[in-house]
Amino acid sequence: MTKEILIAPSILAADFARLGEEIAAIDAAGADWIHCDVMDGHFVPNISFGADVIKAIRPMTKKVFDVHLMIAPVDPYIEAFATAGADVITVHAEAGPHLDRSLQAIRALGKKAGVSLCPATPEAVVEYVLDRIDLVLVMTVNPGFGGQSFLESQIEKIRRIRTMIGDRPIRLEVDGGITGDTAAIVAAAGADTLVAGSAVFRGKNGAGYAANIAAIRLAAEAARVAGLHDISAQPARARETARIR
Ligand code: DX5
Ligand code: ZN
Repeated sequence: MTKEILIAPSILAADFARLGEEIAAIDAAGADWIHCDVMDGHFVPNISFGADVIKAIRPMTKKVFDVHLMIAPVDPYIEAFATAGADVITVHAEAGPHLDRSLQAIRALGKKAGVSLCPATPEAVVEYVLDRIDLVLVMTVNPGFGGQSFLESQIEKIRRIRTMIGDRPIRLEVDGGITGDTAAIVAAAGADTLVAGSAVFRGKNGAGYAANIAAIRLAAEAARVAGLHDISAQPARARETARIR
């Protein structure tokens, strides 16, 4: 099933001193979802923000809040993020021993459930939870920081998960190092939901956000239309085709 490409700017790259304005700016600039990166300084080596910040910015937009929990343990905090206004809650497969239970807890709260995989985690971890999820998030960097380089090792994993998903109503999201160039590569491999932090908030100039989002979207859509399924074997051709800025 081909789903439309969604762009989810990560507010980790926003100006935190003006967070409300930044949310309004990416909303107006055409963001589909608002990606919120929650980091605990334990599961990942960085601390960002928690449920209270999400609750505070929730009224700034009606768009989907896509909450990526990089925290362990995660189960004790799921309800707080649901109450704060998350629409999609994604937990890491590596965050605890009971992924199936975490996913059930998210759906029991009436929210969409996602599972995220770090770069070293094989796709097999999602095989037995496919009926419990609405989204798979493939990390294309090691989680913890914005502005890192895209890991090409994840392209094959994206392809394999695309096949595993089949016709199920599950979104395949990628996160980390997404630019116009890498958007083309991941879209050709089967990703349909693209998180981008640095590439959207570049320059922290709200006036440029619409062009930044559009460039990523166009590159992804062009690569998909071109049907460049074997893009990793032909990076030069793929990037040439997808470079629409
Ligand atoms: C990394 C976060 C990402 C990050 C993406 O741990 O999950 O969402 O903010 O940032 P860029 O797009 O700058 O790689
Ligand atoms: Zn993220």
